[in-house]
Amino acid sequence: MKRSFVCKSCGHVSPKWLGRCPECGTWESMVEDAQGPSHGHGLHGDTGSFKAIALSDVSSLDEGGRIEVGMDEVDRVLGGGLVPGGLVLLGGEPGIGKSTLLLQVLMRLEGKGERVLYVSGEESLSQLRLRADRLGRCGEGLFVASESDLERVLGLVNDLRPSVLAIDSVQTLSAPDIASAPGSVAQVRESTAWLMRTGKRLSLPVIIIGHVTKDGAIAGPRVLEHLVDTVLYFEGDRSYSFRILRSVKNRYGPTHEIGVFEMRETGLEEVPNPSRLFLGQQASAVPGSVIVPCMEGTRPILVEIQALVSPSYLAMPRRTVTGFDTNRLALLIAVAEKHLGVVLYDKDIFINVAGGIKISETASDLAIIAALVSSLQEQPVCLGTAFFGEVGLTGEVRPVGRADIRLNEVARLGLRRCVMPTVASQGIQVPEGWMSCRWIP
Ligand code: TYD
Ligand code: MG
Repeated sequence: MKRSFVCKSCGHVSPKWLGRCPECGTWESMVEDAQGPSHGHGLHGDTGSFKAIALSDVSSLDEGGRIEVGMDEVDRVLGGGLVPGGLVLLGGEPGIGKSTLLLQVLMRLEGKGERVLYVSGEESLSQLRLRADRLGRCGEGLFVASESDLERVLGLVNDLRPSVLAIDSVQTLSAPDIASAPGSVAQVRESTAWLMRTGKRLSLPVIIIGHVTKDGAIAGPRVLEHLVDTVLYFEGDRSYSFRILRSVKNRYGPTHEIGVFEMRETGLEEVPNPSRLFLGQQASAVPGSVIVPCMEGTRPILVEIQALVSPSYLAMPRRTVTGFDTNRLALLIAVAEKHLGVVLYDKDIFINVAGGIKISETASDLAIIAALVSSLQEQPVCLGTAFFGEVGLTGEVRPVGRADIRLNEVARLGLRRCVMPTVASQGIQVPEGWMSCRWIP
């Protein structure tokens, strides 16, 4: 058998062992992969009907109908519901609430008359029952099994013929003919490939949970991302009760949707309007506070930037920044002094990004400058106004990507105005009820 090594954190394959993955730069992440780089030999066994057909004769997936979960935040992220035969990978750090979300989704589906099967290799049946009792009523169409042997799981699916299958988690499954331990790259990949094939054959939507840790210590969902149809990540800070479900890959829907939840005693509660999460409690306009629509990966969120500019009595005025790059701030201060004629060299400047978020985008430049000037002049910016745009060294405001998505988010969260680069606004649909005007300095 050909030997190969695969990176646990990004899935990069190399013919020899390396101390550091050349793809993602992680140290000591390469492990031996018994399957070799071309995984899944012998899995694609449907050789009987090997002929090509016209694409127009193929029935569309949506004809079969999506299965709506009935939780708006989940359905939106999925692109309208589960797709028959689609494989969804739900990744996230341990303890973030994946099992809770999955069980809630299954209970909703069961409530709509679906026959669902939840296979857990992590918890005993009585533990599952305990959790379900906290979350609500368990109906008779929700079947559970505590099993980690893949062959037996597939046998169960054949017997029970559920309309939705859920696996918690893929790291506990062990496939036959693979010598390595459950959770290894080869096991996780082989198990997923089998579930994928079974799902497609039976037109069964499959949801699998995969744990991921920051340092990729266990063979994580990363190595599966290219295999599955949809990749959802469930994230959040465990010290806060808010959780975000976001799609990073979706063959059947958009990828820039996020779903926001709050973890309560009785499970996850949907948060239909997450603006209050990230925006400060701004009842009236105050000097130095500006809102910017940022892209966090693929998702837009509104963030409040606060600036405080005050006279300095130090030889070297203070520049204290939380959640933003200090060097970028120095650059923006220089641009503001040069092109706006404001005097900042003798001022202490404090910048804070509310909500503990870190901004790394240049799209927030315009908002930072607006906040600085607003605080300096003790003039609030108009309430309900957002700012975005990159600021160049010559003082020009440059366009940034995804302007339409940002603008939509601003409008969705009930703001009434947005100041953005003129170039970026070309060809963009102005939100309903808004007026578009051009300002030429
Ligand atoms: P869990 O779904 O077990 O996490 P994961 O499957 O991602 O490892 O959720 C674990 C946390 O959720 C645990 O710390 C307790 C909390 N929780 C609640 O706050 N309320 C609830 O109703 C439930 C079921 C869990
Ligand atoms: Mg769990």
